[in-house]
Amino acid sequence: MLTTDAAEACGMNNALDDFDRWIRTDFVALNTRLEEAYFAAGTHILRGVTELEELKEKLAREGAERVRRIAVAGAVAGADAGAEGGGRAVPGDPHARYELLGSVGLYLGACRRHEIDGPQSSAWPLASSLAASLGVAPRFVFAHQALFNQAIGDRFRTFTLLDDERDFIVYNGLSVLAYQRTAAALRRIPTLGVSSPLAAFLLREAHAGLDDVMDFGRTLSKNLGVDRFFLTIRPYFKPYRVGGAEYRGANAGDFAAINEIDVLLGLCSPNDPFYQGVLTEKYPYVPPEDQAVLRATVLVEPLLAAFLRETARGPVTAQLRENAELFLAVCRRHGAVSAFHHHRLVAPFLQVPAARAPQEEHADLTASGPPLDVVVAHLARLVDLRSAKPRCGAFGARSSLDRLREALARAGTTLT
Ligand code: HEM
Repeated sequence: MLTTDAAEACGMNNALDDFDRWIRTDFVALNTRLEEAYFAAGTHILRGVTELEELKEKLAREGAERVRRIAVAGAVAGADAGAEGGGRAVPGDPHARYELLGSVGLYLGACRRHEIDGPQSSAWPLASSLAASLGVAPRFVFAHQALFNQAIGDRFRTFTLLDDERDFIVYNGLSVLAYQRTAAALRRIPTLGVSSPLAAFLLREAHAGLDDVMDFGRTLSKNLGVDRFFLTIRPYFKPYRVGGAEYRGANAGDFAAINEIDVLLGLCSPNDPFYQGVLTEKYPYVPPEDQAVLRATVLVEPLLAAFLRETARGPVTAQLRENAELFLAVCRRHGAVSAFHHHRLVAPFLQVPAARAPQEEHADLTASGPPLDVVVAHLARLVDLRSAKPRCGAFGARSSLDRLREALARAGTTLT
């Protein structure tokens, strides 16, 4: 026979399992039916169709019931354990809590996507308490879809059963892992010194990670249907409200490694007010461990500065030259991958279909909220920084990279 504590823990687990089962089955089926209906009609949403309104209402109601059961089971367990000196209404393990936040967020995101008002507001307190315990935004973010999403029988949690959504998450997720590989390699160089033979290995490793990001991006751009993305995937990434506040949508850029690479290479500076804005805005949308990485970027000495120092001090040994050339190749690759994102993903999958969309939808196209041309201009500035374009001014790396190239050219005949 179960003890009271065990029964309450069991009640909590049952409620969590039931919600997880629902998210992986009925929730996905309901979204898929709605998406297929919208897609067949060539639009991102249909309003006022009785059969579809019933599906939307079912989605909102069934999710709200399950979230309420979690909250009730948690409150009972919390109240009883509280009497003994410390209760908890959500899972104790931080990863379990983060995953649960993701699932509640998928439900809230779907309600927003189908423009449903009402029952889902009962999920706000759970989302808010999970988020407060972790120091993150109370909504799903890209990491919930790609990295904190336990697969069962090959399937991870998604909004729909559509292959395009699966491909979008898989290739974005693989790109994040590849960026993390590059960041992990670059991060080890400062303790070795830029003329170390081991640094050459790490710079090749960093380049290989960026090659993978490029390959995954190319595969994604070939496999993903433009209309499928625009009409049935993008709408889930909109901002939505939790409690009184609106939180911006998920985007695949919400991970710290890309910023660590920017700053370690010296292509972007945490002292640049524009780039400071990029870093600060991101905190609540990255996983808790990535917040520490973002914070650490301000302490980093860029590899570019270290190469300039060593080449100026001399001698420019064969190893230092090899490493500097590898470093310059990594910088070029980082710029090229960023330009690919801009010209081969953002432009064809967002800008081109957006230009065809009815005018009234233009205000509601981006994950972050501002109009699409503002978001695109912001992304273009990041591409310019990563590509070291001359127009980046005081915080761009162009003149420092030129100085490094000149130092290598000057030392061309004096190799030791
Ligand atoms: C069809 C595919 C994709 C499209 C249409 C797309 C579009 C966008 C858009 C519009 C933004 C700005 C979001 C906003 O502020 O509203 C963004 C940001 C970002 N995306 Fe993507 N993206 C795609 C795939 C990817 C992939 C595969 C990666 C690789 C990890 C990626 C990495 C990033 C990063 C790092 C940012 C943050 C800005 C930056 O640091 O450059 N995206 N994306």
